[in-house]
Amino acid sequence: MVERETEAGTVSEIKGAVHKELKHDSAHKHVSGDAIYIDDMPEPKDMLHIYAAMSEHAHARITAMDLGAVKAAKGVVCVITAEDIPGHNDVSPFAGDDPLFADGLVEYIGQPIFAVAATSIEAARAAAKLAQVDYEALPALTTIDAALEAGSAIEPMQTMGQGNATAALEASPNRLTGSFRIGGQDHFYLEGQIAFAKPEEDGDVHVFSSTQHPSEVQHLVAHVLGTPTNAVTVEVRRMGGGFGGKETHPAMFAAMAALVAVKTGRPAKLRLDRDDDMIMTGKRHDFRYDYDVGFDDEGRITGMAIEMASRCGRSTDLSPAINDRAMFHADNCYYLSDVEIKSHRLKTHTVSNTAFRGFGGPQGMLGIECVMDEIAHHLGKDPLQVRRVNLYGGESRNTTPFGMTVEDNIAPALLDALAESAEYERRRAGVRAFNAKSPYLKKGIALTLVKFGISFTTTHLNQAGALVHVYADGSVHLNHGGTEMGQGLFVKVAQVVAEEFQIDVDRIKITATTTAKVPNTSATAASSGSDLNGMAALDAARKIKARLTEFAAKKYDCPKDRVTFRNNNVYVENKEIPFADLAREAYLGRVSLSATGFYKTPKIHYDRSRHKGRPFLYFCYGAAVSEVLIDTLTGEYKVERVDILHDTGRSLNPAIDKGQIEGGFIQGMGWLTTEELVYDEDGRLRTHAPSTYKIPACSDRPEHLNIELYKKGRNVEATIHRSKAVGEPPFMLANSVFLAIADAVSAAGDYKTRATLNAPATPEEVLKAVMSVKRQAKN
Ligand code: MTE
Ligand code: HPA
Ligand code: MOS
Repeated sequence: MVERETEAGTVSEIKGAVHKELKHDSAHKHVSGDAIYIDDMPEPKDMLHIYAAMSEHAHARITAMDLGAVKAAKGVVCVITAEDIPGHNDVSPFAGDDPLFADGLVEYIGQPIFAVAATSIEAARAAAKLAQVDYEALPALTTIDAALEAGSAIEPMQTMGQGNATAALEASPNRLTGSFRIGGQDHFYLEGQIAFAKPEEDGDVHVFSSTQHPSEVQHLVAHVLGTPTNAVTVEVRRMGGGFGGKETHPAMFAAMAALVAVKTGRPAKLRLDRDDDMIMTGKRHDFRYDYDVGFDDEGRITGMAIEMASRCGRSTDLSPAINDRAMFHADNCYYLSDVEIKSHRLKTHTVSNTAFRGFGGPQGMLGIECVMDEIAHHLGKDPLQVRRVNLYGGESRNTTPFGMTVEDNIAPALLDALAESAEYERRRAGVRAFNAKSPYLKKGIALTLVKFGISFTTTHLNQAGALVHVYADGSVHLNHGGTEMGQGLFVKVAQVVAEEFQIDVDRIKITATTTAKVPNTSATAASSGSDLNGMAALDAARKIKARLTEFAAKKYDCPKDRVTFRNNNVYVENKEIPFADLAREAYLGRVSLSATGFYKTPKIHYDRSRHKGRPFLYFCYGAAVSEVLIDTLTGEYKVERVDILHDTGRSLNPAIDKGQIEGGFIQGMGWLTTEELVYDEDGRLRTHAPSTYKIPACSDRPEHLNIELYKKGRNVEATIHRSKAVGEPPFMLANSVFLAIADAVSAAGDYKTRATLNAPATPEEVLKAVMSVKRQAKN
C-alpha cells in the first residue's frame, strides 16, 4: 500500500480514491461496443416502432387532416394525434407552451403533428407520407431581425446593470460601437433522441429515455397520460452525449412512446434518425450582439451598454434562464463599473432553441472578449494589456453587474501563468515577424479568459439525492439523481463513496439512474452533476458509516473515535476487521445498511425581478492561447497550437477533467469555426446532416494542444473535496480561436483595420472579412 499526502494528513491508498486519475468506468465498453444504449436493448417481439410526422410549414393553420390512408397502411397498428391524449397536450419544462402534437396551429417546420406506430420503422415512415394535411399559411418570422422589428418575444426584455452607463459613456475619453452575429449550434450527440416504453399493470408505464432529466420526463409523461407521477418510471443507464440537448427535449419522444405503449398494450420505441433529429430538436441560440463602449487611454472600460437579442424559436423552453446566463457572463473576467445590459428573447417560427453547453454563457462572453480586442486595436495596444487593466480585482472592483461579489478571483494569476508558459509575448512577436514576410498566409494569436458561474441560476434546482446500499458481503450499490452522458459523473461519485468507506472503487456498483430510487431530481446540467450528487452520495455514505462505527464501538467495547476506516479495513483500536466482515457482522446485528443522502447548495439566492443576488456558489476560471494560420486567398485556416490552463480546484479525477477540457474546447471551436446552421427564407433548416453541417473531426484537433490543470487550484467554497465543476467552462476557451482568426484577418490589412467577423468564422466568412480589411487598408 502506498501512502499519500492529502489535506487531512497522510492516509493509506485505496484503488480509486478521490483526486486519482481513473479512467471512465465505461471507457472500455464504449470502444468494445459492450456499453448498452437504449437502441442496443433486446427488442421484445411485439414491439412497435414510432415515426413522428412533421409540419411542412413554419407558421400555418391546419384546416384539415385526413389520416385514413395512414391508418389503413400495411403494418400500422395505431396513429395518435392531439385528440388521443388522455391528459394534457404539453411537454414544456414550465411555461405550458409546448404541445406534444400541433392542435390546429403549426409554428415551425418539423413540429410533430401526429405519430404512427407500426411493426417496422420503414412501415411507419411510409404510412406517415400518406397523410392528407391542408394548411392555411400564415406570415412567419424566422430571423432575429424580423422578430425584433415585429416585437415578437417569449418574455419581456430584461435589463441588468450597475452604475450609470449613459452618463459614463458620455464622459468617456474614447468610444467604440459595433454589432456582430453569433451563430447557433446543433448538439450532434452521437446517440440521437430515443425513448422506449414498456406497458405495465394498471396502465403504468416504464420508460427508458436518453435524458439528462429523468424526473422531468417522468413528470411530463404522467402529465400527458393524465396519471399521477407514481404511475411512470423513467430509467437511463447512459446517454451517448447530451450537451444540453437532452435537458428538456426527450420528454416529447418519451411521451409519444408512452402513449403508444399504454394505448396498444405493446412496447414501443421511438428513435429519430439524424436528419429528423436535427430538424425536430432545438439548438444553441443564435445571437445578435450590439455594444457601445467607453474607455480611457489605457483601455480600461469606463462605461458600457450591451444589447443582446437571441432567437428563442417557437416556445419558451429554457430560454429565460439561458438568456439570463448570457447576461451573467457579459462581463466575463472584467469589471464594469457603469454598465447596462439589455436582453431580447425573441419568439420566431423556428424550432424552440434550448440548453447547450454553457447555456447562453458562451454568447455573452464572446461579446466582451471581442470588445477587448477592438479596444486594443483602437489604441494600438496588445489585447493582453487591455485585458489586464480590466480584470476584476482590488477592493472597489469586485462587484458583478448582478450584484455578486467576486471572492475567488484567480483570473489574474491564470493569465500571468499562461502568458508565461505559452510564451505569449515571444510568440506574438513571432507572428508579427512571420506576417511581415508572408504575403498570403497570415498568422494570428489570442489569449482569452473564462469565468463561469456554478449553480443553476434557478435556485431551487440546486438540490440532489442519493441512495446507497451496503450488502452483507461488503459490496456497495450506488445510485443518485445524476445521469451519465460521457462526462464521467458516475466514476467521480463512485470515487467519493470509495474514499468515504475507504474501499476500492471496484467494490462499488455503478447503477442506472431511475426515478424509482431517487425522486424529484434536477437535470444533470449547469456542470453541477458532481458538486450536487457527489455531496448527496457522501451524505448517504456517512450515515451508513456512522451506523457501522457505532456498531463496531459497541461490539468491541471502545469509544467511537477509536474506530477508523482505512485500506478496505475497519480498525477498532488496533484490531483489523475487513470492511466486508464488518458489513456481515452489522447485518447479523440488525443494523440498517441502506441510506438516502441529500444536498442543497448553500449561500445562493437571486431576485430575478431586479436581476440582483448571488446566483452562483463560486466561479470556474480558465485561460487559453490559440495560434492560427489563415490562407487569405481562400479563407481556409488551421488552428496550429493551443495552450490551456484551467482550474478544476482539487480535481476529483484529473484524467476525466482533462478529457472534459479537451472535449469542451474542441466543441467550442466547432461552434465558432465550421458548424453553420443555415435556414432558408421559409424557415427550413438546410443543414440537417453531417454532409452539410460540419462538426470538428479528429483531423481538426490542433496539432499542438497543451492542457494543464491549475496546480494551485482549490475551491474556496466547501464543495465536494474542494473540487470545481468542469463540464461547461472549457467550452468558452475556444473564444481564443475565434479571436486568433480575427487577428490574422487584421494582419491581411497590415493591422490597419479590423473587419466585423461573425461567428462561425467559416472559410467563407473569413474570406469576406479578409477582402473587407484589404479594401479598407487601400483607402
Ligand atoms: N461531456 C460529454 N462527454 N458528454 C456530454 O453530453 N455535456 C456537457 C458536459 N460535458 C456532456 C459533457 C454539459 S452541457 C454539461 S451541463 C455537463 O457535462 C453535465 O455534466 P456534469 O454536471 O456532471 O459536469
Ligand atoms: N444551467 C443549465 N440548466 C438550467 C439552468 C442553468 O443555469 N437553469 C435551469 N436549467
Ligand atoms: Mo448543460 S447545457 O447545462 O446540459
